[in-house]
Amino acid sequence: MSQALDEIKIGGLGASRKRVEDSRFIRGKGNYTDDITLPGMLHMEILRSPLAHARIKSIDTSKAWDIPGVHLVLTGEMMATRNLAWMPTLSYDTQAVLATDKVRFQGQEVACVIADDPYIAKDACEAIDVDYEPLPVIVNPRQAVAEGAPVIRDDKESQAGNVIYDWEVGDKAGTDRAFEQADVISKLQLHYPRSHPSPIECCGSIADFNRATSKLTVYMTTQAPHIIRAAVALVAELPEHMIRIISPDIGGGFGNKVPVYPGYVCSILASILLERPVKWIEDKSGNLISTGFARDVYLDGEMALRRDGKILGVRIHTDADHGAFFSDAQPSKFKIGLMHSAFAAYDIPAAHLTARGTYSNKAPGGVAYRCSFRVTEAMFFQERMVQAAADDLGMDQAAFRRMNFVRDEDFPHRTPFGFLLDSGQYAKCLDVGLKAIDYQEFRREQAEARKRGRLLGLGISTMTEPLGAGNSREYDILGIKMFDSADLKVHMTGKAILRTGAKTQGQGHETTWAQIVAHELGIPAEDVVVEEGDTDTAPFGMGTYASRSTPVAGAAVAMVSRKIRAKARRLAAHLLEVSEEDVEWELGRFYVRSAPDRGVTIQECAMAAYSNMPDGMEPGLENTAYYDPPNLTWPFACYIVTVEVDPETGVWDVLKMVAVDDCGVRINPMIVEGQIMGGLTEAYAMANMQFITFDADGNCVGSNYMDYLLPSAWETPGFELHSEVVTPCPHHPIGAKGIGECAAVGGPAAFVNAVLDALSGTGVRNIDMPLLPDRVWEAITYRRDVSGAPPVRSDD
Ligand code: CDP
Repeated sequence: MSQALDEIKIGGLGASRKRVEDSRFIRGKGNYTDDITLPGMLHMEILRSPLAHARIKSIDTSKAWDIPGVHLVLTGEMMATRNLAWMPTLSYDTQAVLATDKVRFQGQEVACVIADDPYIAKDACEAIDVDYEPLPVIVNPRQAVAEGAPVIRDDKESQAGNVIYDWEVGDKAGTDRAFEQADVISKLQLHYPRSHPSPIECCGSIADFNRATSKLTVYMTTQAPHIIRAAVALVAELPEHMIRIISPDIGGGFGNKVPVYPGYVCSILASILLERPVKWIEDKSGNLISTGFARDVYLDGEMALRRDGKILGVRIHTDADHGAFFSDAQPSKFKIGLMHSAFAAYDIPAAHLTARGTYSNKAPGGVAYRCSFRVTEAMFFQERMVQAAADDLGMDQAAFRRMNFVRDEDFPHRTPFGFLLDSGQYAKCLDVGLKAIDYQEFRREQAEARKRGRLLGLGISTMTEPLGAGNSREYDILGIKMFDSADLKVHMTGKAILRTGAKTQGQGHETTWAQIVAHELGIPAEDVVVEEGDTDTAPFGMGTYASRSTPVAGAAVAMVSRKIRAKARRLAAHLLEVSEEDVEWELGRFYVRSAPDRGVTIQECAMAAYSNMPDGMEPGLENTAYYDPPNLTWPFACYIVTVEVDPETGVWDVLKMVAVDDCGVRINPMIVEGQIMGGLTEAYAMANMQFITFDADGNCVGSNYMDYLLPSAWETPGFELHSEVVTPCPHHPIGAKGIGECAAVGGPAAFVNAVLDALSGTGVRNIDMPLLPDRVWEAITYRRDVSGAPPVRSDD
């Protein structure tokens, strides 16, 4: 007779448990970096370059020093005397902390002031006199490789031009053969524009060096606290065990809070020099203009097609603009991230990708903005190309996709770029999406509307993406292997504290990790407190980005719970006075196989671990698990949008959007839906309204929230979500796949495809995002493609 607990009632797997963290957030009781005030704390402000490329002739800080309340003025020259003018980046490059020789992008850090309050520090920054000699500016990869182009990184002896890397992957000869056999070759070129993660909370840090204990504590907005600890140890040459990084509550990260920023380093040095806590909180324009950008990639591809619609091969070339320093985190083996995950959902015999990265006079870019290392660009291009190819063949969009999908019976499937896909039901997801949007009926309405001059369009985006780096064999950052960890301590009363190496920034880990423990141990989720982000207490982990938390840290939570259960089983056998082999487990309880009524709860085992353990057993009920995933997880999504475009103004409105996401087992269905809605909202914003670019002088155009629009509930369309397709991940301990970024990755192509579908027959093949009304109007009026690539005129 089973006495197992009802898993949903205890907040286990599948429970739409309310987010426990929201209890403090909606009361205004969150504890963000800027909420922290330490005794004797000073404030730091940064002076940024107004020019994109200029030699620094001199910096005069004397007037700043004279302002009452100023404690320190730091310049690159002063940093250089401590070997801190430059720092290593996460991609084996170097980055200026404070400029010494030249400024290389508008907004670059030139000096900083530490004062009694931020206003004095800001005034003192304005009193610093910098004499610049302007230099020619580069704002795109074409200019970067042009003959006679100025060398941006002339600080590097080995750097002849502006190329950072030339990289390739795939089978060139096999792909060439596929193109020789093709009936039709479909081509597409586009620019995935620069895009900024724009978390609501900007970056910041409070460094607190205590000379008496030699301990450095840094409160900061980082998505990867342990990596920062290692970086500080290496850059500032401080002993790692004397560094404590604390990431308190974070108001959104989206990849923007992975890199190491000069502000962090300067606040640390200032605290060491002044022996007082130093707080630096970036302002909004500082965040928009100088911190990690994403995308800014030129994509050029062609597809070899058989006339019946079969894809025979794909060639892709990418030119990525990394800005002045190659500083975003990439798995070190893959220079252009996981761009080669493009077309993974399609069964394509041959593929070849070449990638070139270049420097430009822009803030460092290429961060994985809600993205698993360039998969956003990969999936966008894939789905734009698929639409173009189907159109070139005169085939139905859905039929073309279905014909080329990896089929259910073909898993495991090896892609031509070497990824191993283990599970999915792609055609089923598409069918659910088509039914939900009422595909055939819409096509009929679309044709009818055309006759009356109305432009309706339908866009499909179907994609799988690799989430959960790594396995450690292939994935590392700066040589540090990409695994993750969980540490679980069950107290004697059966309550527990769980710590992981991940760091939530709004994703709800405090809620969902406890649900995994509840599922594995039967301890109610409300009895498990989750802590992340403090390197003195959390086990080592690589942090949260690239939707890796559930695939890696989430798996570690399941594995550490299983270790605890194994010990609890021995305790149960002792309490029940039977051998371990005679003990059975059901949720929350061990019982004697031959006498199911005789049992002990997990809470009774916990008490025994501290009060009544068998002879020879180590007391306590705690353990740690480090999890190295055997593979990435591959969620799948089908997004379908219908739009109406106004031919007079170029304005387009979403009529309906449906989303079918298969992320395997859903730990918390409500949180998963929140992740999908958030991602779709960002996708809509990227496709429709987020304009940030550069003019020919390297001025950042759109570096304010009047141009770079953050969507509110007012303009965001409604989304219809579908969850009926569930393909558990075969290697994840609870069958989960990542979900956090799928909608932001796959969504943009659905919107753009829909607008271009509305324009079909006009000869327009591409309009670069954002699809602003003037761009759409230009395409309709002049029947031509519209590029958004920089430089733009500053009045655009
Ligand atoms: O790494 P990050 O937390 O950004 O992304 P994720 O691992 O995809 O998880 C985002 C949120 O969705 C977390 O709270 C997860 O626990 C939750 N989730 C879920 O409930 N079920 C899944 N199959 C995947 C994620």
